[in-house]
Amino acid sequence: MKASFVLKGHIVWCDTPDHIQTVPHGYLVCEDGLCAGVFQEIPQRYQSLPFKDYSGRLVLPALYDMHLHAPQFAYRGLGMDLELIDWLQAYAFPEEAKYQDLDYAGRAYRAFTEALKTSFTARFCCFATLHTPASLLLAEYLEASGLQGYVGKLNMDRNAPEDLCELSADRAAEDSEAWIQAMQERFTRIKPIITPRFVPSCSDALMARLEKLKDKYVVPVQSHLSETHDEIAWVKRLSPGIKHYAEAYDRYGMLDNAIMAHVVYPEDAEIELLRMRGTMVAHCPSSNANLRSGIAPVRRLLSAGVKMGLGSDVAGGESIDMLRIVTNTVQFSKLYWRMVEPSEPALTFPEVFYMATKGGGSFFGKCGSFEEGYMLDALVLDDTKLRTTVDLTVPQRLERALYLSGDLKLVQKFVDGQPIL
Ligand code: GUN
Ligand code: FE
Repeated sequence: MKASFVLKGHIVWCDTPDHIQTVPHGYLVCEDGLCAGVFQEIPQRYQSLPFKDYSGRLVLPALYDMHLHAPQFAYRGLGMDLELIDWLQAYAFPEEAKYQDLDYAGRAYRAFTEALKTSFTARFCCFATLHTPASLLLAEYLEASGLQGYVGKLNMDRNAPEDLCELSADRAAEDSEAWIQAMQERFTRIKPIITPRFVPSCSDALMARLEKLKDKYVVPVQSHLSETHDEIAWVKRLSPGIKHYAEAYDRYGMLDNAIMAHVVYPEDAEIELLRMRGTMVAHCPSSNANLRSGIAPVRRLLSAGVKMGLGSDVAGGESIDMLRIVTNTVQFSKLYWRMVEPSEPALTFPEVFYMATKGGGSFFGKCGSFEEGYMLDALVLDDTKLRTTVDLTVPQRLERALYLSGDLKLVQKFVDGQPIL
C-alpha cells in the first residue's frame, strides 16, 4: 500500500490548458498514492486519514523537466559565449569525458541529485554520458532521492573526441543492452531510456542497433531535433535523401514513444510527422536563448496537435528551476509574436503551466493534475517572503510565485504520494 492522507492548503492545478482551477482553503486527498480529488470540505469517508496542515500555503502539481543533462550540471551558468556545435566541442564534451572517472562522476552526480531533489521538479528525462558505471551510479542516487524518471546512457560513435566515441556501433549497442538490463534489475523509480545524442553523433549502423533494443526491451527514446540551422544542414549532409531532420530518426522508429528536445526550426512535414507518431517535444527556451539557437514556434506546434512539455536543458539552460522555465516560455513566446510571427498569438500563463505539469506529465502516465486517479506529485510552496500590500487571489499568488521563484520556500514535495524532503 502506498500513502493515504488529506492535505489542506490553497490547491491550484490545470486540467485543461485554458484554465487554472483553484480551491482556496481546500483539501487534497491522496489514497494509496493516487489523487482521490480536491474538496472544499473533507468527505466523511476520508475523515479518518492522516491530516497534513499546509493552511495558507500554495499546493500545486510538481513540475516535470522533460530534458536535461546531468553531467552538464557542474558547469551550469558558464560557457554561454558559443553556439551549439562549438559549445559542444568547447564545453560539453570535455566535461562529459571526466565521467570516465567514477570518483569525479560520484561527486558531480551527488550534487546534481541533491539539487534536483530540492528543486520544483518531481519527474524528469535526463541524459547521462556514455559511461555505464557512472550512468548506473547516477540512477542509484536518483532512485534513493525519491524522485522518478528516466535516465539515458548516451550513445555516440562519430563526430566527437575519441574518448567520447564508442569503439563501434556493435560495442555501443552491447553496452546499452547490458546497461538496460542492469537498470531494469536494480531500480523501480528510475527507468532506462534509449539515448542517441543526436543524428550527427550516431551512425546509421548504431541507430539500427538501437531500434532493435527499443523493440526488445520496450523502452522509450530521447534525443535532440532541429535545434539550430547549422545542425540541420549537417544532418542533411550526413543523411542524403531525407526530406527533413525528423526523418533521420523516423527511419529507425525513433519517433514513437519518444521525446525530442528543441524543434526550433521544424518544417511543416516534420510537424505533421511528429503529430502522427505522437512524439513529445520538450521545449527548452533558456537553452535556446543562451546558445542563440532561436525561439521555437510553440504555438504552431500546439495548434498542429503536437504533444509538448518543457525542459531546462541544463547546461544549455543555466538553471534547473522549472518555474523559471515556465515564465521564460511565456516571455519568449511574446517576443516571437512581436518580432517573428504576428499571426501566432503568444502563449498564456495557464497554457504554459499546463505544459509544465499535465502536458509533460503524460509521458510518465497519469501525472501532472489533481484529477481523480492521477499519481500524486505535488509541491507545497510558502510565498510569504514575496511581500506585498496588494490583496491577492490564489491564481494571482500562483502566477507571482512562478515569476519570482527565487524567493519562494519549498516546504514539501510529494512524488507518487511520498513526501521526499
Ligand atoms: N545536441 C546534441 N547534444 C546536445 C547537448 O548536449 N545540448 C544541447 N542543447 N543540444 C545538443
Ligand atoms: Fe540537450
